[in-house]
Formats: sequence, structure tokens, C-alpha cells
Amino acid sequence: MSITAQRMSRIKASPSIAISAKAMEMARAGRDVIALSAGEPDFDTPDNVKIAAMRAVIEGRTKYPPITGVPELREAICRKLERENGLNYAPDEVLVCNGGKQVIYNALTATLDPDDEVVIPAPFWVSYPDMVLLAGGTPVVVETEAANDFRLTPQRLEEAITANTKWLILNNPCNPSGAVCSAKDLAGLAEVLRRHPHVWVLTDDIYEHIIYGGEPFSTMAQVAPDLHERTLTMNGLSKAYCMTGWRIGYGAGPKELIAAMSKIQSQTTSGVSSIGQWAGVEALDGDQAFIEDNVTVFEQRRDLGVSILNQANGLSCNSPGGAFYLYVDCGETIGRRTPDGGTIENDGDFAKYLLESEEVAVVHGEAFGLSPYFRISYALATDRLEEACMRIQRACASLSG
Ligand SMILES: Cc1ncc(COP(=O)(O)O)c(C=O)c1O
Repeated sequence: MSITAQRMSRIKASPSIAISAKAMEMARAGRDVIALSAGEPDFDTPDNVKIAAMRAVIEGRTKYPPITGVPELREAICRKLERENGLNYAPDEVLVCNGGKQVIYNALTATLDPDDEVVIPAPFWVSYPDMVLLAGGTPVVVETEAANDFRLTPQRLEEAITANTKWLILNNPCNPSGAVCSAKDLAGLAEVLRRHPHVWVLTDDIYEHIIYGGEPFSTMAQVAPDLHERTLTMNGLSKAYCMTGWRIGYGAGPKELIAAMSKIQSQTTSGVSSIGQWAGVEALDGDQAFIEDNVTVFEQRRDLGVSILNQANGLSCNSPGGAFYLYVDCGETIGRRTPDGGTIENDGDFAKYLLESEEVAVVHGEAFGLSPYFRISYALATDRLEEACMRIQRACASLSG
């Protein structure tokens, strides 16, 4: 008899983390692997944030923190939401968690009953469906299309909603597609949600600041204030502030929901590292200029990646408006033969072929719920990105048939 609970058979380990671990293992064995699989900026955490953390240690802010977050950080989050998003939240409507990931986990665990459904547009961040399954709910995956820049349409949303729908998860800008929903797009989705008052919205805004030109960032509670009372606005410091290792995320929403999420946190991980939280206060209140500098670099890398990959035989991708990923269509490589006599049957085979033949790690589209694609992250040094994209071109040129 297995030691593991039955619910464990419903979920899998994060595929993007598994592929990155494999790439790291190959690199440790001396291979010149280029990992385009990890979702984290290569830039370092800003010095003012590091100094704030050191100050917290020296000043002895090292005791158990409050479950919900240190008051100074919750207040800084409220100021941020007001300043940047025009949203009014009181500190007791905010919960600080161990990264954005725990916000989502707490929210789903606190709200899903058996039979509850969660609408998830695909391609999606790999963890959403598994978190829903772990919480006992049912993910309802809704495909989007490259022709519509992978944005969810009101019609598709309408079709996916049933009497059992509890949440819509909206990730804007999107990992893995980089798609950005404009205020107009969100207003169209809000129209549908108004017709279904039992559906809540979880907006994952973690890539908020990584957005290029044109479209300014918008979030649901701002575009549709009447939905504020059934929206959980999730965000965090991992991506824009280059703080993936610090584990600071937050959710803002109605008091009853935040209290239920805190209850879970109180019985599981307790409050987030006090040192990270003090660093978080400085990140939100301190100088923000570096974000724009980093985004300029990301934009140049996006353009480089799009240009090289669109010249690869059998690949195509659009130029996304945000995040630091490209979601590349590899449909034309399906059925082609590799130099060692194998056949590319699906995007998993294609990713495996890239890793084995050119030592480039990417994540296959199946992991994100939409095939045949693969995702690259361009959050790595520009010369390594260029080298990796040239290797991908070479791998494509070596396919036959
Ligand atoms: C869309 C999305 N949401 C949430 C997260 C989790 O962020 P954190 O590292 O703050 O837990 C990630 C991280 O990759 C992500 O891509």
C-alpha cells in the first residue's frame, strides 16, 4: 500500500522547475547548457532592498512575524495599490504570503468545495490547475488563440461558466504567452462576470511592471469597481523587484476571504520571513527607477528572441506585450525527423530534442495546457539568449522530412 494520500495522484510536480533542475544538473556535469526554462530575472535584488534586510537583522527584527504580515508592509502594500492601481484597500484586507504562489494556494484552499470549478485560460501558469486539484476543485481549461494574442474572449468565458464556477483566474501579463489584457479586454470580461454574480476573480498581477510600450497595465478591480467585492488582487515582489528568493507575495481582497486565507496560513507556514518583509517595505516605498531600466533590457531581449526564432525553420511566435517569455509555435516541426532517426511527435519531443542535441532547456507547451508550443524565458544574459536562439535555429535546420 502506498504511503501517499489519494489526492497526490491528482497532481504532478511543477514541470518548469523539473526542467530547470535537469538543466542545472547537466551544467554541473560540465555541459554547456543554456536554460531558457526558469521564470526569474537574472538581475540582482537592488542594493537599497538588501541593505534594508541587513538593517532588519541588526535591529533584531527576527522574532515570529504576525501571521498576516508586519503592519508596515501591509500599509506599504495599500499605498502601492492606491498609487499605482487606484485601488483602495485597508491593511486588514491585505495578506502577505510566501510568494505569490502561496496567495493562490491559500485562496483556493480556503474557498473550494468538492464540485467547485475554476476557469483557467490556456496557456496557463503551470501551478494553477494542480493547486485547484489539490484543493479538491476542478480546473476548467479554456483555450485561447495565438491569432487573438492568447487573450481570453468574453464569449469563451461565458461558455465556460457553469453553476459550479467559483473562480476565474486571470494572469495579466501572462506567463507563458506574455499576453497583456487591456482595460477594454478586462471590461469585456467584466460584462460577462456581472451576469454571473457567483463567480469570483483572482487576478495574478505578478508581471504588472514588465510591460512594453503601448498598453498601460490594468487590473480587474480598477476597471470594474463593482466587482471589487469579489476580486482577489494578487501580486508580489518576485519578478519586478528581482526578489524571487525572498518569497514575498500578497493578496488584497474582501476581509472575509483574507481572514480565511490567514487562518490557513496560521496553521501551516505562519507569517513570512520577517527579514524579507522589511526588505519588502523598502522595495515598495524606495526608488522604483531600476524597474524601467530592467524593462528596457527585457524589451531588447524580446525583440532579439522574436527575430531569431521567427527565422528558424518550422517555428513562429508573436511579439508579446509583457512578462519575459515567448510562446513559440512549433507545429510545423511535428512529424519531422531528427538526425538520429527519431520523429518529433509532439512539443515534448521537440523540447527533449533541443536539450539533447543543442543543450537548450525550454518548457514544452503541454505543461501550459496548449500545444504544440514551447516557452522560452528571456530573463538571462543577452549574449546567452542570442546563442540559445541560434542553437534552436540550428536544431530546426537539422530536422528533415
Ligand atoms: C504567473 C505567475 N504567478 C505566480 C508566480 C509565483 O510567484 P512567486 O515566486 O512570488 O511565488 C509565478 C512565478 O513564476 C508566475 O509566473
